[in-house]
Amino acid sequence: METIDVRLLTPGDIALLREIDRSEQLDVEYTVESGRLVSARTDMYVPPWDPSGSGGHSVSGLIAFCRPVLDRGAQLLGAFDKDTIVGMALVEPSLRPGLGWLALLHVSNGRRRGGVGQALWSVAMSVARNSGASAMYVSATPTGSAVQFYLKQGCQLAGPDEIVPELFESEPEDVHLVCGL
Ligand SMILES: CC(C)(COP(=O)(O)OP(=O)(O)OC[C@H]1O[C@@H](n2cnc3c(N)ncnc32)[C@H](O)[C@@H]1OP(=O)(O)O)[C@@H](O)C(=O)NCCC(=O)NCCS
Repeated sequence: METIDVRLLTPGDIALLREIDRSEQLDVEYTVESGRLVSARTDMYVPPWDPSGSGGHSVSGLIAFCRPVLDRGAQLLGAFDKDTIVGMALVEPSLRPGLGWLALLHVSNGRRRGGVGQALWSVAMSVARNSGASAMYVSATPTGSAVQFYLKQGCQLAGPDEIVPELFESEPEDVHLVCGL
């Protein structure tokens, strides 16, 4: 594994998101059917974030999504290889009493499968645990890489009584997961 340094960032560092290359060639996607994960082949390219627009796939759109989460006290994390940022995460330690929320996790294309996501996840778990959380909630993009990553971390499908309604309503196509800390 490469040497990765995960640092606690300040809310003002959120603009570093533009340094992350989110592009990805997708070959597997998931749906949840009758409480079970079902995988299917796909062939779709996710382009880098739009650096200048304001839509949902733009850097400014993503920052607008993060702002209220940061305002509620979420912790921003950056994974660095020397001085180069290669991944970022945002964790809200107490979305509900005892429940943290991993609001964002991105590792740059070209730097994946080297343990960067795992390093960010470990620190995010510590941040939530240190704030008294006993579980972490993830609304995962329904792609092979994201879902398989979270399953590897020990996440399980959120049951009907574990689903966070406002997160489900905003991302109904996502795979909603919970992981005990
Ligand atoms: C999901 C993501 C953050 C994982 O980051 P990463 O740095 O590649 O993950 P790691 O290298 O720490 O992987 C840890 C383990 O997760 C699993 N995993 C990660 N990516 C995987 C993939 N594409 N396919 C299958 N398993 C995968 C593996 O078990 C892996 O261990 P291994 O490499 O020893 O087999 C990264 O793929 C990413 O940024 N994707 C685009 C953005 C995204 O979907 N973010 C999540 C939004 S909710």
